[in-house]
Amino acid sequence: MSEPKKRLLTGLQSSGDLHIGNYFGALKPFLDMYQEYDSLLMVADYHALTSLRDADVMRRNTVNVVKDYLAVGVDPKKCIVFRQSDNQDHMELAWVYNCLVTVPFLQLAHSYKDKVAKGIEANAGLFTYPMLQAADITLYDTDVVPVGEDQRQHLEYTREAVGKFNRAYAEILKEPKEIILDAVGIVPGIDGNKMAKSAGNGIPLFGTTEEIENAVMKIVTDSDGEKPELVYNIHRLLKSEEELEKIYRDNAGRYGDLKKILAADLESFIAPMREVRNQITDADVAEVLEDGAARAREISNKTMKKVRQAIGIA
Ligand code: ADP
Ligand code: TRP
Repeated sequence: MSEPKKRLLTGLQSSGDLHIGNYFGALKPFLDMYQEYDSLLMVADYHALTSLRDADVMRRNTVNVVKDYLAVGVDPKKCIVFRQSDNQDHMELAWVYNCLVTVPFLQLAHSYKDKVAKGIEANAGLFTYPMLQAADITLYDTDVVPVGEDQRQHLEYTREAVGKFNRAYAEILKEPKEIILDAVGIVPGIDGNKMAKSAGNGIPLFGTTEEIENAVMKIVTDSDGEKPELVYNIHRLLKSEEELEKIYRDNAGRYGDLKKILAADLESFIAPMREVRNQITDADVAEVLEDGAARAREISNKTMKKVRQAIGIA
């Protein structure tokens, strides 16, 4: 008999339009491996609520993120594509974790500290964010979680929360492992900081030709040296080192030309996916999410039944 497939889960926040950092850091690794696993791909809309307070934008973003998932090539028949808020088990398990971990432990989370340092409101949802993520992952007995480098600590927090639960009650929940592609690392934004939806420094994954060109032209270039490091670091996601070696040699010092080449390469990479995306309707998205919610609940309900028994509320 063949071994059952291991389970894989990842999610992206629906806090804005996806950028190429999301693609190379999270979606591409997911696409490369999801069929070898029993996979789930989530829209983390309750996580987005920590930073978003506009109901129309919230609704629109969910639809857009699902369209993005389908357009990059995710087949919803070969995995479960679902929305976090469609399954209330996430909220419930997050609460259980919140009652196990301490405030000082959560205060050490880099992503929380970074966001607060940037002046983002320290709402309690933002503070307990890692425990909702721990719930997302562990409700499904997840083995592996492909994410970008910035999420490493959230996986450590998940394992810590699981350990606390299992020691306090019973060995019910599984400790997941992250999968982080070293080659990608953190994709820099056009200002040199981590590309992030909230930072306004992204190259949109499904931008128009013009939007992509405008973003590329705004990439900060260092004034000394032959090679604009930032332009190169984004370019290397699309072309091999050998190919780039020639392009950057032939155009040494001509930053404007190098940016034009990068914009053209991005356009050839994005255009076919954009075509596919234009064919996907809101009704297609609704259908995918309805099916995904039912399949997701079927798995998580079993976990929650055990959790409720273990903590003494059932
Ligand atoms: P953002 O930081 O833009 O709001 P999310 O927090 O929703 O994006 O991240 C979704 C996924 O994309 C995560 O796995 C995250 O690690 C990955 N990711 C986000 N930004 C980058 C980046 N600049 N480089 C690599 N991966 C990234
Ligand atoms: N916190 C993740 C991010 O910002 C998004 C996310 C929410 C996630 N739940 C998850 C990622 C579960 C992996 C698994 O990128």
